[in-house]
Amino acid sequence: MKLVPKHIAMIMDGNGRWAKKRLLPRAVGHVKGAANVRSVVQACTDQGVDYLTLFAFSTENWRRPEEEVSTLMDLFIQYLDKEVNEMKEAGIRFRIIGDRSAFTPTLQDRILRAEQETSHNSKLHLTIAANYGGKWDILNATHLWAVANPGVPVSSLEPAALDAYLSTAGLPDPDLLIRTGGESRMSNFLLWQMAYTELYFTDTFWPEFGASELESVIEWFGKRVRRFGKTDEQVLS
Ligand code: FPP
Repeated sequence: MKLVPKHIAMIMDGNGRWAKKRLLPRAVGHVKGAANVRSVVQACTDQGVDYLTLFAFSTENWRRPEEEVSTLMDLFIQYLDKEVNEMKEAGIRFRIIGDRSAFTPTLQDRILRAEQETSHNSKLHLTIAANYGGKWDILNATHLWAVANPGVPVSSLEPAALDAYLSTAGLPDPDLLIRTGGESRMSNFLLWQMAYTELYFTDTFWPEFGASELESVIEWFGKRVRRFGKTDEQVLS
């Protein structure tokens, strides 16, 4: 029987290089990349994945040229406007993780609406990380824990207690990370949550990553022996 990861996280890298290779503006790469989100969501549903978390905009991406940041923000709004009804019908639960307070009121409003309108769904949990950073998430969770536990010494804080205050509370940790675009780094994505995640790096640029490659990555994942610190013998017995 095929072993399908319950939760896949993806770093969607390579939009800019995809465009550059075709002598097109970077913005066109992002438009293609946004369109590919829809196909990959469908491919994950078809494969029986329960949770998909996509890194769309990091806390560091504000350093990009203003015009590019603005293109990405417009694409988020367009994506939400276009996809929310489809998500409702397809049983997709949509969430955003990250510090949304930096977004325009329009974008914040669209996000909230999409989250509320899909909150009863559970076929696929689609989470978009936007203005997200793994370091931000850990620090923020620690602050929230301290506020919720006044007077409790910080030395008593256990990893499981922090889970409840992370932006991903309620989501299982990712089983598999796929990063497109040829780089082999985490780029401040789900640092805490990916302590035992299987990592897969592909040279394919995000706009070209599709259902058939996803299927072969899932096959690769099925052959991993996940030890979580134990020995092979313990895991296989
Ligand atoms: C990395 O490619 C990609 C991003 C920083 C943004 C990802 C955004 C999208 C896929 C489109 C919008 C998403 C949604 C959910 C509507 P890059 O530009 O860093 O590529 P490069 O490394 O080739 O320059």
